[in-house]
Amino acid sequence: MSFILVTGGAGYIGSHVVKELLQKGYQPIVYDNLDTGHREAVREAPLIEGDLADGEKLRETFQTYSIKAVIHFAASCLVEESVEHPLKYFKNNLSNSIQLLEVMEEFQVNRIVFSSSAAVYGEPLEIPISEEHPSAPTNPYGETKWMFEQILQRSSKAGRVRYISLRYFNAAGADPEGDLGEDHSPETHLIPLVLRAAFFGKPISIFGTDYDTPDGTCIRDYIHVTDLAHGHLLALQRLESGRDSGIYNLGNGKGFSVREVIQVAERVTGEKIAVHESPRRPGDPSCLIASSEKIRKELGWRPRYPELETMIQTAWNWHRSQFKAMSRMPD
Ligand code: UFG
Repeated sequence: MSFILVTGGAGYIGSHVVKELLQKGYQPIVYDNLDTGHREAVREAPLIEGDLADGEKLRETFQTYSIKAVIHFAASCLVEESVEHPLKYFKNNLSNSIQLLEVMEEFQVNRIVFSSSAAVYGEPLEIPISEEHPSAPTNPYGETKWMFEQILQRSSKAGRVRYISLRYFNAAGADPEGDLGEDHSPETHLIPLVLRAAFFGKPISIFGTDYDTPDGTCIRDYIHVTDLAHGHLLALQRLESGRDSGIYNLGNGKGFSVREVIQVAERVTGEKIAVHESPRRPGDPSCLIASSEKIRKELGWRPRYPELETMIQTAWNWHRSQFKAMSRMPD
């Protein structure tokens, strides 16, 4: 039996991809240090509790399981933290990823799907953003994603690896069957924080109301996590079919402002959400909208849940069940 190694498979996006892999008849194994991932998010796949920095454990995993491809999520992913602790990001996201490539090479595994980010573009020069847009990341997090893409590109030119790098825009929503959801600690993302605010009756801070956008708040391209997960399956299948390596955006091509997200959340939850207008968050681009033409054309990707309402509804279903078990709003 051949396995797909999913590093970071206990995290938000990784756990949705593991579910999708199982549904499509693949055999995933999760490799996760559970720093930010959750044991209970990994249900039917073997979970190896390990760090990518632990070369011995990684080699042991490749020795034990016959691995045919890797989907690589394991990374630190907080933009603000990356500015304060750049070394943590270069170590976790870059050195550890290089070690993963080395071990893959040792065991002659040469297919990898990489979890990249819209953060590689920095402040956009034009909208929508295509894959050809220049990369000028504005923080260490985005830099590590961009640098590892360069490493993949070089390794692929040298015939060492074949890769697909997926540049996500804003992952949102939760498993429509209610098994999985977004659980970060601390939570920094807009939609889960808005839903918390709705449930616990607390205000949500809007970071910046003076952007050059129609309502003054930042615009983002939200993509349902299940649609993101499906993109990984298509990427894997492309590598299996022996075709070229490549880089693809994953977004819906539609932007929503922070105020629009709050309005949709009010409709979905039936709650009035109080807002607190706060200063801009450093490093936030005013508007990020993907062109997803390339992945639609080359991999045949189509979103099943393109409506923001569905993203917020599925997130609400999951979060509400979590909140009900809590006595107070989480930190
Ligand atoms: N926002 C608020 N209030 C909050 C939280 C967020 O107004 O309490 C705003 C942000 O300023 C931003 C928008 O909501 O304008 C979305 O913020 P998120 O933190 O949800 O998402 P980001 O766009 O900042 O982050 C996403 C990914 C990151 C990635 C980044 C690249 O989640 O992993 O895009 O720019 F690094």
